[in-house]
Amino acid sequence: MCVPHLIEFSKVGALSLGYLTVAQNSQLPFTIERVYWTYFTPDEVLRGHHAHHDLEQIIFAVSGRIVFTLEDVEGHQQTFELSRPNIGLYVPRMFWRTIRFSHNAVLLCLASKEYDEQDYIRDYNSFKTLK
Ligand code: TYD
Repeated sequence: MCVPHLIEFSKVGALSLGYLTVAQNSQLPFTIERVYWTYFTPDEVLRGHHAHHDLEQIIFAVSGRIVFTLEDVEGHQQTFELSRPNIGLYVPRMFWRTIRFSHNAVLLCLASKEYDEQDYIRDYNSFKTLK
């Protein structure tokens, strides 16, 4: 499904023990080529401001709260609030994103490709011309 959507991953454990969540390629819409995480983002800072030509991602708030706004080239916007470590947001290629974090937030990203600056679209007006 090539639209942004939430994916619920199963939780192993119990409230009294703590939980474990696993992501493995056989259950994902793409093969993981890279994992990165961001943290200590001050809550007044808005990150993102880019889209990707080809990259697909699944984003988790493994800690704290993350508000992820996605816009397609037609201008349709959707906002997703992530605060549960077993819920991932699937982000298809070609969505402009802005991201706000609570200060304690840790964003974990599973990505379909290795880092390539050429895959970024960092100019909003250029993005809007890529219909
Ligand atoms: P960027 O993807 O713009 O972060 P955000 O969307 O969270 O604001 O990346 C920030 C910087 O980190 C940018 O200079 C590129 C660099 N970077 C890497 O070197 N490797 C990576 O895998 C990623 C995701 C970013």
